[in-house]
Amino acid sequence: MKRLAIESSKGALLLCAVLLAGCGGGGGAAPSSNTPQAATPVLSAGTGTYTTLQRVAISEPTAGATVYYTIDGSTPTAASAVYSAPIPVAATTTIEAFAAASGYTGSSVAQATFTIQFPPAPAIGTVTDIHQGFLYQIVTDRFFNGDATNDNPSESPGLDDPNGFTDTAQADWHLYWGGDLAGISQKMGYLKSMGVTGIWISPPLNNIRANAGASNGETGYHGYWPRDMMQIDEHFGDDANSWTAFDNLVTAAHSVGIKVIVDFVANHTNPIGAGEDGSLYNNGTPVTTYSTDTGATPYYHHNPNISNYDDRYQAQYYTLEGLADLDQTNPWVDRYLKGAVTNLLDHGADGFRFDAVKDVNWGWEYSLENTVANWSGSATLPTAAARPFLFGEWAEGSGDALYPDSVKFSNNSGMNLLDYPLYYQLADVFGGGKSFTEIDNELTLEDAGSPGSTAQPFAQPNDLVTFFDNHDNARIMTLGADRMGMKQAISFLLTCRGVPVLYYGDEQYLHNDTAGGTDPYNRNPMTSFASTDAVLLVQYLAALRAANPAIAYGSMQQRWINDDVYIYERKLGANVVLVAINKSATASQAIGGLYTYLPPGSYADYLAQTMGGTGITVTGTAGGNNSVTGFTLPLRSVSIWVSQGSVPPSIGSVTPRVANPGTTVTINGAGFGAAPGSLNFTVGSTTLAASVANWSDGQIVAMVPALPAGTATVMVTQGTGTSAAAPFTVSTSALVPVNFSVSGTPALSSTDVIMLSGSVSELGNWAASWNSAIGPVTIPAAGSGLLTVSVPAGTAVQYKFLVLHGNGSVTWEGGANHSYSIPLTGVGTAAVSWQN
Ligand code: NOJ
Ligand code: NOJ
Repeated sequence: MKRLAIESSKGALLLCAVLLAGCGGGGGAAPSSNTPQAATPVLSAGTGTYTTLQRVAISEPTAGATVYYTIDGSTPTAASAVYSAPIPVAATTTIEAFAAASGYTGSSVAQATFTIQFPPAPAIGTVTDIHQGFLYQIVTDRFFNGDATNDNPSESPGLDDPNGFTDTAQADWHLYWGGDLAGISQKMGYLKSMGVTGIWISPPLNNIRANAGASNGETGYHGYWPRDMMQIDEHFGDDANSWTAFDNLVTAAHSVGIKVIVDFVANHTNPIGAGEDGSLYNNGTPVTTYSTDTGATPYYHHNPNISNYDDRYQAQYYTLEGLADLDQTNPWVDRYLKGAVTNLLDHGADGFRFDAVKDVNWGWEYSLENTVANWSGSATLPTAAARPFLFGEWAEGSGDALYPDSVKFSNNSGMNLLDYPLYYQLADVFGGGKSFTEIDNELTLEDAGSPGSTAQPFAQPNDLVTFFDNHDNARIMTLGADRMGMKQAISFLLTCRGVPVLYYGDEQYLHNDTAGGTDPYNRNPMTSFASTDAVLLVQYLAALRAANPAIAYGSMQQRWINDDVYIYERKLGANVVLVAINKSATASQAIGGLYTYLPPGSYADYLAQTMGGTGITVTGTAGGNNSVTGFTLPLRSVSIWVSQGSVPPSIGSVTPRVANPGTTVTINGAGFGAAPGSLNFTVGSTTLAASVANWSDGQIVAMVPALPAGTATVMVTQGTGTSAAAPFTVSTSALVPVNFSVSGTPALSSTDVIMLSGSVSELGNWAASWNSAIGPVTIPAAGSGLLTVSVPAGTAVQYKFLVLHGNGSVTWEGGANHSYSIPLTGVGTAAVSWQN
């Protein structure tokens, strides 16, 4: 046994111990002085092979002693970790510990090796819908260098770190490191093995070819500084900026059933006054730069940086962090952006993560959604395939002033959102050790709304895209989570409602804590593709998601909660998944008074105790009120109990959620039956059956029937069962953006907003409420209002502006209605003066 000695209560290590004989008294000999030796710590389990998570406690007989330990095979010293709570062991580990106490020499070292052999995860079933799996977010430049020929490309030399992934100093975090689309293609097997159903890749389009920073370099390695949206960047593809590498990636992904979600930037091009000064190209042809954009119809807004993110006008029309801010209602820009998006669809993209949607013109984005909904593919693509899945980034919490606007935007435009409000709570709880009540309260607010306020519930919470790490925020392991904490966060994310996104490298425990671990230190090089215990956990959870539709499509209900324990239930028909997490490092928790929909019986932990979980017994017969026999939830554990059964027709999501008659939609869910039943759309009192192109038990592809425009519901009937109604909006026809403006508006109090309402559904059908009228309009300057609305092409409409007061009362414009004929294509302008 190795021996250590310690000099004083200050804990200074004498260091004689390990190697020098006679100092600590090797081989059991007494210490040479009269100073007694601290007793050797006792590990709660010994060397052996284990198939479940071990929680190794260390006890120390000598009163007042401090126990120091290592888990990496090194000999512990007084500089090692101080033992305070049982150590979770989920991978083969050697624990070594010694004790030090004032008035004693250091103890002998206790040591044990735990060989962990967890059972493999169940096979992951084949699924067709991303909801039944999860997304995996990749910063392409940092993932894998699959093609050395595009390193330091001749078109833009000098932007690569010459050492790339092998730069151990990693000094040049703002340069290209060599990851590319070919690299992702080559790692498809790794992704597939985890059950990934979709990859979200950083923007692949052509970025500036210059350095936009003074010292250490500022390049477009992240993809958010496009210059040409019709080409693939030479660092990610090839020197000809061709689509070959992108097409190959799509082929590789689709061949294993993985969808490709492309990050797309519609808000801006690239930095003003540096690099290429907001250069804009159209498939190689120069269009403008920021400072030469002096024509009558500018491509860019020329406004200051956003300083007040709570101001609707600034958010949409000012400059985001010095990036040349595109005017999406310039007719050329409108066509270009939509052309770039449909070009990506033609190349096989399965959906988009739209960047900074809060800072793009909101009203214009409705027409972007409409463009994607109306896209039917080139002749070579299957038109009856799953429709593109869209989600946007609105980087704001539910406490922010424009949170109600974000919900309204998502519900009415059909654009799903990244669940940023929930993200803040997840980072706080799993990274910062805060109470589970933060998460629970947030879910209630988002899914049920806040009665009496303008914050409506999200129409389809299972379509919110959930995450706890990304490329813009410090990873939770930087914030404070250890490996067990990371796995608890993964367990929550992959069983919570929503479409989960795992940020690349979390399953390899990647993090770099330099400067708080935020951008760029959260864009770590992916240096390992090993089968870690976190990878195994992801496989277990992916198998569960694929097998049990309660997770993708079911309800979510809190069942038991305190600061450290969260027990919640997912349910769809007779499919029930009950999840229990105890994040306390020090205390197990006695659980009493827990009720469930699980039928009576005994339940083993679905995770096979790889997360230290436990089994339970359920008694009783009452639906939803079956009683779980009192039990103890181990500290730092996750347990999952599952039952599967039949399910009546249940709609999980409709994609797109807003579309014109005649548009193809995908209905995902469960219990639809193998043979076609019927699919009905209802607007007001009119119900029409949809014509069905494809029908399977979990997915229907059908056409929106010729209904009048308006708020709709969708229902599936199979035999005697009919689903609950899912929300949908029928739009009138193809939508074009129109800039509605008004001058000479009345003075507003701080709680007043100006809205617009008019004669078609897209203009609110003359409704005057916060939720049903259109707006609030932006206020470019006191006394004027500006609002882009996407409205039916070629239609004659009437409308008025109104002031909606804080108490809900309304002041309409006087006089006759304004009349306007919406153009068939392009972008319209309708300017009026307020009528008293
Ligand atoms: C949000 C993106 O996620 C972030 O990385 C980027 O810098 C900004 N939008 C601007 O594109
Ligand atoms: C400042 C960030 O830089 C910006 O991207 C974000 O939209 C706002 N904070 C959130 O309100």
